[in-house]
Amino acid sequence: SLGARCGAGVGAAMSVFVTRRIPAEGLRVLRQAGGCHVQLWDSEEPVPRAELLAGVAGKRALLCLLADRVDRELLEAAGPSLKVISTMSVGFDHLDLDEIKKRGIRVGYTPDVLTDATAELTVALLLAACRRLPEAVEEVKNGGWTTWKPLWMCGYGLSDSTVGIIGLGRIGQAVARRLRPFGVRKFLYTGSCPKPESAAEFDAEFVPLARLAEESDFVVVTCALTPATQGMCNKDFFGRMKKTAVFINTSRGAVVNQEDLYKVLANGQIAAAGLDVTTPEPLPTNHPLLSLKNCVILPHIGSATYATRSTMAVLAAENLLAGLRGDPMPHELVL
Ligand code: NDP
Ligand code: DGY
Repeated sequence: SLGARCGAGVGAAMSVFVTRRIPAEGLRVLRQAGGCHVQLWDSEEPVPRAELLAGVAGKRALLCLLADRVDRELLEAAGPSLKVISTMSVGFDHLDLDEIKKRGIRVGYTPDVLTDATAELTVALLLAACRRLPEAVEEVKNGGWTTWKPLWMCGYGLSDSTVGIIGLGRIGQAVARRLRPFGVRKFLYTGSCPKPESAAEFDAEFVPLARLAEESDFVVVTCALTPATQGMCNKDFFGRMKKTAVFINTSRGAVVNQEDLYKVLANGQIAAAGLDVTTPEPLPTNHPLLSLKNCVILPHIGSATYATRSTMAVLAAENLLAGLRGDPMPHELVL
């Protein structure tokens, strides 16, 4: 059922649709703002599309999540009253920015506040994949652990390694900063252009994608999903990777061609992979990737610390309110 209405009931002028139950701190910011009428989809589960289209109709602002596709259909359902979209995410590939811009709608998002949590999770996933942690835990439970064996459960470590980062942005740099103390010998990175100021801290070398694949012991994907990055990690890319290399993706699932990844993992053409993001999400429980011991898959939990999610919700609420008031947003996406 459509969730609770709350806030001071003023007219449609300041009406807001919130597409999910978000951390209480964020809702409090909205509810305490004078003249804001909040309609909340008060559930942990996504709002069905039909309810979303009905919910946004006539609203002035929308607070959405990465699971909500904001496209022409939705914008038309909302109508000309919609002036502000605030997404509780740093990624904005779910937003059709051309259609949004055409309508003069302002967009807020949540960069920076989730960088540390996501970088930390990326490192955790990398270590889990390269040191085979889920597989090892399973062996303890199923009796596979018979004795200490010199050749058993060996993986690959970071000491003296080459780490290639696809997308040396906020999260990519935070990952490099955390990995360096593990004894990484060399950082490579790729992107649309060299970023000398960002790279200097790590003495990271800008290289073409193919060279990054060929030389890295660990490939970490932290780029945005764009038409240029969609399907970028494909057969050709994986085919260039070392047999001993580990592939980590905490960006968006669609950057990876999953069939190609499955083949190289199943054939032992690369050592392991760790994915926090997949296509689709959730990944069906019978998906072939889930049958592989050398593939660690997490349910998109990069930013999932209590503190970070709370801060993201507050920032999303503040962006939205600033947009409604015609003020500069704390974090506005320049369209
Ligand atoms: P930034 O904008 O700071 O970084 C994005 C990076 O992507 C930039 O360095 C950019 O490099 C790079 N990029 C763009 N195009 C290409 C390309 N063609 N090839 C290689 N790199 C490219 O964003 P954040 O670091 O804050 O976030 C990155 C992404 O991480 C988000 O867009 C989101 O999708 C994902 N994310 C996932 C989370 C999770 O829970 N797993 C949590 C948070 C974010 P350049 O400037 O050179 O183009
Ligand atoms: C984002 O913000 O884009 C992440 O995927 C979730 O925090």
